[in-house]
Amino acid sequence: MGLLDIGQPKEGDTLVVAAATGPVGATVAQIGKLKGCRVVAIAGGEEKCQYARENLNVDACIDHKADNFAEQLAEACPQGIDIYFENVGGKVFDGVMPLLNTGARIPVCGLVSQYNNTALPDGPDRLSQLMGTILVKRLTIKGFIIFDDYAHRYPEFAHDMAKWVGEGQIHYREHAVDGFEQAPQALIDVLEGRNFGKMVVNIK
Ligand SMILES: NC(=O)c1ccc[n+]([C@@H]2O[C@H](COP(=O)([O-])OP(=O)(O)OC[C@H]3O[C@@H](n4cnc5c(N)ncnc54)[C@H](OP(=O)(O)O)[C@@H]3O)[C@@H](O)[C@H]2O)c1
Repeated sequence: MGLLDIGQPKEGDTLVVAAATGPVGATVAQIGKLKGCRVVAIAGGEEKCQYARENLNVDACIDHKADNFAEQLAEACPQGIDIYFENVGGKVFDGVMPLLNTGARIPVCGLVSQYNNTALPDGPDRLSQLMGTILVKRLTIKGFIIFDDYAHRYPEFAHDMAKWVGEGQIHYREHAVDGFEQAPQALIDVLEGRNFGKMVVNIK
């Protein structure tokens, strides 16, 4: 829903999505390919990037931990960015912002790099720069909370996703741990990128 309703993907658009091997990002990346987008994934580390290239069919995958992340992202997006599906914020958004095309859409799904912040970061206030970019590039930036905003469209999702999974067009990966007592550590691991696929805590 975030990609299709807010992102409005069109054939040939460049779509950038981070946390691309997690459940949200991997699904967005693969639906983007089904809709004819050039998909540039972002993930933490070469193993995750290799998985994204080989299993999610993305056109490129960039490691956000690389020193020259912003340069690599620019090289992977020669036509700029039409849709940035926001999962993480922080340095990834800093790299994305100068590459956004006029009329770009940004579904804001999550900001995982910011969840542990207890105060605003040091440094210059860049809010006016962001607002200026929204104005000049006429960006659409819209947040959503999936079941608050789109519960009434769940049947559409279930219909399309069941078909795509059944046809082998959408792949998913799970990272399972056993025991309810593992839940706190499992959540910490998600926030620090130690999960590889959807984190599942098995309870008996
Ligand atoms: N709006 C909604 O209704 C809704 C619903 C569900 C989830 N969400 C949000 O969607 C996003 C993805 O959720 P998910 O369940 O699919 O999680 P996930 O991708 O399984 O886990 C989060 C991933 O974020 C990446 N990450 C962590 N710290 C980062 C940082 N500082 N910079 C860049 N990447 C970082 C890590 O992947 P790498 O190792 O690849 O960097 C980590 O594995 C989250 O922001 C979540 O809060 C929103």
